[in-house]
Amino acid sequence: MRHFDYKNGELYAENVPLRSIADKVGTPAYIYSTATFERHYSVFADSFSGIDALVAYSVKANSNIAILATLAKMGAGADVVSGGELARALVAGIPAHKIVFSGVGKTSAEMRDALKAGIRLFNVESLPELRLLNQTALSMNKIAPIAFRVNPDVTAGGHDKISTGKKENKFGIAWKHAQSAYAEAARLKGIKIVGVDVHIGSQIDDLAPFEKAIEKVGELIKRLRADGHTIQSFDIGGGLGIPYGDNNKTPPPPAEYGAMVKRLTASLDVEMIFEPGRMIAGNAGILLTKVLYVKEGEDRNFLIIDAAMNDLIRPALYDAYHDIEPVIAAGPNFTQETYDVVGPICESGDTFTKSREMPSLNDGDLVVLHSAGAYGAAQSSQYNTRPLIPEVLVSGDKYAVIRERPSVADILKTESIPDWL
Ligand code: LLP
Repeated sequence: MRHFDYKNGELYAENVPLRSIADKVGTPAYIYSTATFERHYSVFADSFSGIDALVAYSVKANSNIAILATLAKMGAGADVVSGGELARALVAGIPAHKIVFSGVGKTSAEMRDALKAGIRLFNVESLPELRLLNQTALSMNKIAPIAFRVNPDVTAGGHDKISTGKKENKFGIAWKHAQSAYAEAARLKGIKIVGVDVHIGSQIDDLAPFEKAIEKVGELIKRLRADGHTIQSFDIGGGLGIPYGDNNKTPPPPAEYGAMVKRLTASLDVEMIFEPGRMIAGNAGILLTKVLYVKEGEDRNFLIIDAAMNDLIRPALYDAYHDIEPVIAAGPNFTQETYDVVGPICESGDTFTKSREMPSLNDGDLVVLHSAGAYGAAQSSQYNTRPLIPEVLVSGDKYAVIRERPSVADILKTESIPDWL
């Protein structure tokens, strides 16, 4: 069931016409569907029914506190990668005992905040980090629960920039050092070993790399237990891909992923932890934008829209595909056109798609870029001094602005000219 769909020829978010949001809030804007977030969360969580599992939503995908609160109400935990994300998760009502802290560069201040909050565990990625965590915990008279993120050297992920489980990637403890890392951790008074963690990449559209990683980690868990360590949890990270509407391979549905995980981990006697981001948020959001100009080039037509790469960087950074649809559906006698869809930023990279066929559009028409709920707003910037764009959460026939559009004055307020100038 699509919650961004046409009714009487115009596109709605649940029961709200997008046109009315554009009138009230302006464009560009991110629009999210509560019902879609809820459905994705429950489809994912239900696929692990019957086993001991924690779904720790990966906050980086979409970190708005209203989204986190929506998921908290469903019972979600959180995977955070900074003190800022930790603060967001706590403010949104995600209990500390359901929060895991990942990332290759945690600072002592961040460790302190997490220890104070009493999070579930730290996913530790290097020995120097382990030692700093030990010192930090001891200085607070605390013991830090940890899993090591291990690097299984498995190829996975929809793009080079989002593949993380290969030995040349910066992530995790090198496979061959895993056992000695656990041995060192066991000797530290401020550290308690509770599990193993892995995350191999993002937008993975095939179960095979997950299977490979789970099998390798399963073997490692046996070796670690034989070494005398207590391994209670196995965090397999996030990474399950979503359909973006192009012709690439369609990722397996969560139920298949869940069945595979259950099958491969049944004999391990561990609590499973999952860190899905995109799977929950990706198709729960769209980018609503307006055609500024239709420009005729020498050999092509450009659709210049009011959203740009600073608002949604995925096409520029990862060559990502996003479906594009007009808010007002084309009438029966529409003509088909081919456009390069571009933003106003002064770089050729500010291109959402090239040679895309779509119904002919005019200046002022509203269009949406689909599947923009994950890594859209979260990765936006104010490049070209374009203020961050609003985020709007729809629920049934109501909606609320959950992040306001700052004014240019708000942006300038944070800068100053030194008195020598
Ligand atoms: N856990 C860890 C440790 C991660 O690094 C990530 C994503 C996730 C979980 C969630 O992965 P997901 O379920 O969303 O695939 N900006 C890129 C994606 C970057 C993914 C980074 N890590 C994009 O827009 O495609």
